[in-house]
Amino acid sequence: MDLISIRDLEKKEIKEILDSAEEIEAGKKKPDLHGKILATLFFEPSTRTKLSFQSAAMRCGMQTLDFSPETSSLKKGESFHDTIKTVEGYADVLAIRHPKEGAVRLAADVISKPVVNGGDGGNQHPTQTLIDLFSIRKIKGKMEQLNVTLMGDLKHARTMRSLVYGLAMFGSNVTLVSPKGLEMDSTYLEEVSKKFGLNVKMKDKPEYADADVLYVCRIQAERFADPYEAKSVQAKFMIKKEDLKDAKKDLAILHPLPKINEIENSIDEMPQAQYFKQAHYGVPLRMAVLEHVMKR
Ligand code: NCD
Repeated sequence: MDLISIRDLEKKEIKEILDSAEEIEAGKKKPDLHGKILATLFFEPSTRTKLSFQSAAMRCGMQTLDFSPETSSLKKGESFHDTIKTVEGYADVLAIRHPKEGAVRLAADVISKPVVNGGDGGNQHPTQTLIDLFSIRKIKGKMEQLNVTLMGDLKHARTMRSLVYGLAMFGSNVTLVSPKGLEMDSTYLEEVSKKFGLNVKMKDKPEYADADVLYVCRIQAERFADPYEAKSVQAKFMIKKEDLKDAKKDLAILHPLPKINEIENSIDEMPQAQYFKQAHYGVPLRMAVLEHVMKR
């Protein structure tokens, strides 16, 4: 199967993937995908998604092929379509990241090998959402009935769009905090509310006193038409250590990373900061995803 959007998964399947990642993480299970090849095709920068996909594949006994756009025939003018059709013959599963919304779905439509979306523009990032849900369940012991605050550039961040859908599926209470003009698309929120009866509040100032989980993301400067506009909002949404004194003692702070300046560095050492652990969960989670998409 392809995994392009979090909408591609039923709640039951998400639970299966999280349970499988849990067993992998505990050392009780190891998917055997020996003899298979993962190709990673990233048309946008990446640290965690690409490396953890490759690490996950290797830990499942697979081998990996990495396509690098800068040194490929794209530079001679070859199309995205022809590139994907070619790589289809060299690998058994493709993980693709692309700056254009819909590009990864298009790739999945033109080939028959499984395709996993590693992020398409401001649209979707389903494996990150699975990591986020996994992290919340690990740290809080549940996903239901939690107050989860999503804070940052909710207009452009694909991690946030995917996550709000996942949280709604599991009945979390969601608060959306974003600078004016960077709110999450209302049509998308209506879709999620209609499907799952999402209980959502919206705020335009940093506020997280009642949060069990505070999920932060950076201002997605590369998706702004005007880079100066990105700079002006960046400064307003920085979390400082002293701001956390009113927060719940067992607050969990998550972030898909990279963080730029939205979380003060000294917070890294606090017990609430769980984002590096979250990044490490990317390996067992993507091992579970590779097994899931390859057996279907
Ligand atoms: C995110 C992304 O690429 O969307 N990073 C990630 O995959 N962990 C977040 C971001 O770039 O802000």
